[in-house]
Amino acid sequence: MNMDPLSLLLQPPVHYPVVPYMCTIFGGLRPGKMVLVQGRVSGTANRFQIDLQVGCSTRPRADVAFHFNPRFSSSETSVVCNTLHMEQWLHEVHHPGPQLRKGQPFLLLFLFLEDKIKVSINGQHLLDYPNRLPLCDVDTIGIHGDISVQGISFLCRNPFSDSITEYPVCQPLKLGNVAMTTPLSKTLPNGISEGHMTTVRGLASANPDEIVILLKSADFIPFKLTASFRDQTLLYSYLMGPRWAEPQEIQTPFFLFHAERFVQIHIFSETNGFRLAINGVPLGVFCPPVLDLKSINEIQINGSIKIYSFIC
Ligand code: GAL
Repeated sequence: MNMDPLSLLLQPPVHYPVVPYMCTIFGGLRPGKMVLVQGRVSGTANRFQIDLQVGCSTRPRADVAFHFNPRFSSSETSVVCNTLHMEQWLHEVHHPGPQLRKGQPFLLLFLFLEDKIKVSINGQHLLDYPNRLPLCDVDTIGIHGDISVQGISFLCRNPFSDSITEYPVCQPLKLGNVAMTTPLSKTLPNGISEGHMTTVRGLASANPDEIVILLKSADFIPFKLTASFRDQTLLYSYLMGPRWAEPQEIQTPFFLFHAERFVQIHIFSETNGFRLAINGVPLGVFCPPVLDLKSINEIQINGSIKIYSFIC
């Protein structure tokens, strides 16, 4: 289990940055990290670029491991990709990018893998780019050119479902959406099945008390996760009879939830229990004495959290 304390921290999203924009990627890039850019191409766009680079030096110019550069002409969009190493551009690669259009919104997802970067646009694969420089050296994102940006999110691929989909389900973060305030509940009329994934992304409130996530059936609550700010504990419990089971403390190097800090929670359902990962780090599997996934018909989030995305 990867319990490197740095890997347990997730960088908060950036809202409406002014372009040109540059910021540090906390902890740098590593396989499994993702950057999601929600934006809009300006109506008169000529070009824009998203650079994943090694620091932010301008003289000499920092190496750019991945230069993602859509260029717009009157008839077509071409995405130019390249690497800048020791102030020299390497061999340019061109991809068609008809999904990127002047005046149109887009959702770009960069998924960083050991050997390559995968890019999807609006949920569809766009291109792969081989890592020409070591991924672990990349610690800065720069955005320049003819776009406006609504949000940049730094996420982790869920660690459990590599084989299920190539790209993770990555909805745009709904920043400040009142429909996403807690208590928030989703009903699942058909129950859930093995391999079901619940993903919650959000920001803990300014003066948080606790955050609670429940997977419920009509009679039972086989999964209850409580992050208690008072006690600084993360607990798993279940209700399968008249009383709650003694909560099981989930061990982490430090309490993972902090006021106004972003957090991403994955709950992966298996035949006998639930695998939990926070900020992309697996924290174990939690099992009630018996489990009937089909009977789980509601997922609830309560407490001191602003939800940005709730996928189930
Ligand atoms: C150059 C351009 C740079 C960069 C590079 C990529 O022609 O001036 O900004 O896009 O191509 O290969």
